[in-house]
Formats: sequence, structure tokens, C-alpha cells
Amino acid sequence: MGPQISPSILSSDFARLATECEAVAGHADWLHVDVMDNHFVPNLTLGLPVVESLLRTVQTPVDCHLMIEDPDRWAPAYAEAGAGSVTFHVEAAGAPIRLAREIRAQGARAGMALKPATPVEPYADLLAELDMLLLMTVEPGFGGQSFLEVVVPKIRRASALIAGRELDIWLQVDGGVDLRTIEVCADAGANVFVAGSSVYGADDPAAAIDSLRAAALAAAPAPSV
Ligand code: DX5
Ligand code: ZN
Repeated sequence: MGPQISPSILSSDFARLATECEAVAGHADWLHVDVMDNHFVPNLTLGLPVVESLLRTVQTPVDCHLMIEDPDRWAPAYAEAGAGSVTFHVEAAGAPIRLAREIRAQGARAGMALKPATPVEPYADLLAELDMLLLMTVEPGFGGQSFLEVVVPKIRRASALIAGRELDIWLQVDGGVDLRTIEVCADAGANVFVAGSSVYGADDPAAAIDSLRAAALAAAPAPSV
């Protein structure tokens, strides 16, 4: 699998959401939708009704990143609504294994997110229950923050854990991803890249996605044969 780019609509104009999604169609692999509840993170964005409307409008698969408390209660509905991928935070989940299974049972890919200070090693045995591991490279809550270089060793360790167990799990990074930091992340083993301000802050968001993908491809380790 080549590198995938998931532009975050958090950095788009919410009053023109459908148009903003259309602007990256055919270039984005996913649309990254940040759901924030003002409890798990100190910011409030959008919820299930807006995601349902988007799903009726856009062709690009939707990648929901739930920064909410009690994902055990709320996350399966995003999968049932038709999101292609649903990611919950392990710090908020009461029963992450059951939750991942419920998301998968609704036909979506199950993702689990870790905040920058949450270590990956305690969750090594959970990886087999997941389709994607998301390593936050900023503190979740806001777009436009600076990439936390301190997370890079964890990306490497997570990539090695996945490879060591021969699992087919995507490794996503989210926060401060731009033309420079995407190379650092790809070199460390990430293969799905969320980018908000570096896509929607660009004059041409579609071209920005293409540039990010090319940079990731150039920096990714050669596949082992
Ligand atoms: C932050 C969100 C990110 C955010 C990324 O909590 O999860 O998806 O939109 O924005 P940038 O790419 O600007 O850091
Ligand atoms: Zn996100």
C-alpha cells in the first residue's frame, strides 16, 4: 500500500463544507472528520448529524476521529452511518476490544488513537483487533499546532510492533503534518497522514495533497521482499 493522505476538514470553512470536500475529491484517499465534544478535548466541532449529511454528499471515504468521552456509547453509530473508518481514543474507551469489534461489525475499519504521552507498548496485544493505529503528533483539540518531534520514536516502535506481529494495520499520524514532517513520519513507518492546515491553508488544496503524497513516498522505507 502506498502512502495515503487524509485531509482534515477541521481546517476548512465549515460554512462551505460540501464545497471544501469537493475541492479535494479525486486527490484525498479519505476525508478526516474531527469530532470533538468539549470534554475529552477543550474544543467543540461537529457530531453525527453533520457526518450523516456529509456521507450523503461526498464520494470520498470518511475517516472519523472521535475526540470524545464515552466512545463505547457513541462510536458504533458513526460506523452504522457509513463512515469507512472510525477511530476512538484509548484514553477514553472503557472496553476498547469490544468497541473495536462493534465498529468492525458495523462494516467500518476500526482505529484506535493514542495521545502524544500515551505509550504504545501496553496495547501491543490489542493491535490484532484493529485496522489502524493513530498516533497523535500534537495534543488533540486544535488544528494548526506544531508537530511534536518527541513522538517520532513511538512511531518507529509502533511500526516495529506491527511488522513484528505480521499484522496488516495502517499507522496514521495526525497533527502538524506538512511537507517536512511528513518525511520524518514516513521514514519512521507511518503510512496514513492526516493534514489539516497544510492542505486547506494552501492556495490549491488538491495540489498540496499530491505534494504531500509524493514527499511521503520518497521518504518511506523500501518494502522488504
Ligand atoms: C487535532 C485534529 C487534527 C487536526 C490536524 O486534534 O485531530 O486532525 O485537524 O490539523 P493540522 O494538520 O493543522 O495540525
Ligand atoms: Zn484528527
